[in-house]
Amino acid sequence: MLDEMDKLVSLCKRRGFIFPSSEIYGGINGFWDYGPLGVELKRNIKDAWWRDLVHGREDVVGLDCAIIMNPRVWEASGHVGGFSDPMVDCRATKERYRADQLYVFVYLFPQVNHKGEPTEAWLAGLGASVEEAAQGPERKAAKLARKFGTPEQPPTIIPYLELSEADREKVIGPSTDERGTLTPPRSFNLMFKTFVGALEDASAVAYLRPETAQGIFANFKNVVDTGRVKLPFGIAQIGKSFRNEINPRNFTFRSREFEQMELEYFCRPEEATEWYAYWRKERFQWYVRHGLRSERLRLRDHSAEELAFYSKATADIEYAFPFGVSELEGIAHRGDYDLSQHMKFSGKDLSYYDEETKTRLVPHVIEPSAGADRAALAFLCEAYTEDEVGGEPRTVLRLHPRLAPIKAAVFPLVKKDGMPEKAEAIYRELKRHLPVFYDEKGAVGRRYRRQDEVGTPYCVTVDGQSLEDDTVTIRDRDTCRQWRVASGQVARLICELVEDPSRAIPGLGG
Ligand code: GAP
Repeated sequence: MLDEMDKLVSLCKRRGFIFPSSEIYGGINGFWDYGPLGVELKRNIKDAWWRDLVHGREDVVGLDCAIIMNPRVWEASGHVGGFSDPMVDCRATKERYRADQLYVFVYLFPQVNHKGEPTEAWLAGLGASVEEAAQGPERKAAKLARKFGTPEQPPTIIPYLELSEADREKVIGPSTDERGTLTPPRSFNLMFKTFVGALEDASAVAYLRPETAQGIFANFKNVVDTGRVKLPFGIAQIGKSFRNEINPRNFTFRSREFEQMELEYFCRPEEATEWYAYWRKERFQWYVRHGLRSERLRLRDHSAEELAFYSKATADIEYAFPFGVSELEGIAHRGDYDLSQHMKFSGKDLSYYDEETKTRLVPHVIEPSAGADRAALAFLCEAYTEDEVGGEPRTVLRLHPRLAPIKAAVFPLVKKDGMPEKAEAIYRELKRHLPVFYDEKGAVGRRYRRQDEVGTPYCVTVDGQSLEDDTVTIRDRDTCRQWRVASGQVARLICELVEDPSRAIPGLGG
């Protein structure tokens, strides 16, 4: 399965979707750059979200807040006090690990020591799951087995957080062969700190926002006072967030800089359960509509123990990535927690005057919070396919046409007989409406495959017949079927197909 991830990462690099940030200087862990095709894909995802959640509705307005806010915002939200992960350092290698992702595998080898006890090895492994964490220790144990004999029992597994001080001294960290180099777990705040203004003292400390949501709560009164909104209503924001993750991993999945697409949907307290159910379902369907159709997509309700103390219910939309099932988006019923906290810390009245009941109330909020980078990664994983066409293997990204970076490519079959001129005219016409690509180099089969690999849903080819009857072929990426249309129809037809790829294709009998 990891092989699948390697292939995708390599395609993303080779074809200009995603590059490691500042690669010419050796990169920087947890940061990624989107190349010419990646930026289009991510933009299409954000546009689809904005179109469906803001423009397509009458009850949601947008917002674009500053990334750096008054630090009191993060005291009110609880991020200064509580937004932390337990972290462990390796004194020998200076590696840093999330303590909740460290598991210790205690192996007992048959060879005995001078006291007649079996040889013990306490090997720490890192992973989101025990299976993932086991990989490193298994490799080390196999080496030790050559010296001390093969263990008769499988290892005992202990989460690092549960070890006593004495036992921690026995542990061999993931990146070393020495014992006792791992520190006790310490709390590590995930917010990036900076200083605002010329002085670098405590009074100038500010944070890069770790979520876009708080900008929405802090502006709640501004939006209500500007008068356009009535309960129930939502405020949406798309923007960068920053978290100093201890272990950025799995390509863009856990990055230190990423983009969120968040909606805070405010409603009357008695309607909150209903709106929670609505958004839980609606957000799941959004991913299905945009191509995450497989059984790899799922919706998981949090158990009572998992819920934050203020949350009445939370569900995660999860996707089975090649590296494991992980969260794509969370939908949380947050009650009136956020607005109440900001009232307390700012001293401002953030209640809402309900014209209907002639009373003031603090609305409850339902929050669907998605990551644009995680969505892009899930769409790429789902789209990545290897199949065969006419006995030849090909790699194809079966992206929804609405998300595909390039919507159509235009080719002259050969570079002569007036075909390039005709193809270029069609290309220019299409380019007025959509991102399209012109290619006249090499065999047409290769040109098709290069477009398949980046997910271009349609290829338009000008051939010999085009010169006689002014028709061209359109080829469908997924089925590789081709049909003929009048060249004057191409632009309209492709625009329609991109919007709704399920519509009947003329000339193919529907
Ligand atoms: N306002 C609620 C909130 O921020 P979250 O579950 O911490 O909730 C929401 O984040 C979404 O943001 C996640 O479901 C994920 O898609 C994205 N996200 C969070 N941390 C991320 C990271 N380190 N890298 C990439 N995306 C991340």
